[in-house]
Amino acid sequence: MKIFVDTADLDEIRELASWGIIDGVTTNPTLVKRSGRSFNEIIEEIFKIVDGPISLEVVSEKADDMVKEAKQLVSKIPQKYRKNIAIKIPMTSEGLKAVKKLSKEKIQTNVTLVFSSNQALLAAKAGATFVSPFIGRLDDIGQEGMEIVEEIMEIYTNYDIETEVIVASIRHPIHVIEAARLGADIATVPPGIIRKMVKHSLTDKGIKSFLDDWKKVKK
Ligand code: E4P
Repeated sequence: MKIFVDTADLDEIRELASWGIIDGVTTNPTLVKRSGRSFNEIIEEIFKIVDGPISLEVVSEKADDMVKEAKQLVSKIPQKYRKNIAIKIPMTSEGLKAVKKLSKEKIQTNVTLVFSSNQALLAAKAGATFVSPFIGRLDDIGQEGMEIVEEIMEIYTNYDIETEVIVASIRHPIHVIEAARLGADIATVPPGIIRKMVKHSLTDKGIKSFLDDWKKVKK
């Protein structure tokens, strides 16, 4: 399973990328706001850090405006990085129209705010490169979010659909394990959760006791 980092925080992306485990990045307007940087500054830097799909979200609501905004975004990215841009499009009927148009022009799309397998089926039919079911937000309203990932994986497998599934809105490390067990293509994980994934108290304890014992060895 590929791991994307779900943040617009450039320092976090830089640090986690240096661990050698980051395959891409997802951002959204809230994450950009949280980063405290301008959108232009983020766009300028982010592609230099990670050589993999980078999702940037449009904020238009009409299909033609989304397509126009997507193309403006693409034009801002230096040619050598353009293969990595994925335009995040919200899951609406206007969004589907935009996805269809962008896919004809070979511009990658990530259909976001997906909360059902029917939505994921439609996004794939429109030609989405990626689809992002939001697991945590479903859990928040008392619905088992991971069930829709299971359904989407089954449906996509039944029809050899090439759209890749990005498990999004991940709230804790167990979500990542569940996504991997279901065979999801990608999990997009907030930096804090990636940091939790790397830690285990027995690892820390083991290192400490090895170092303590090493001090007692004659060299
Ligand atoms: C995915 O691409 C989104 O940026 C993200 O996973 C949203 O998660 P949230 O529900 O924590 O805001």
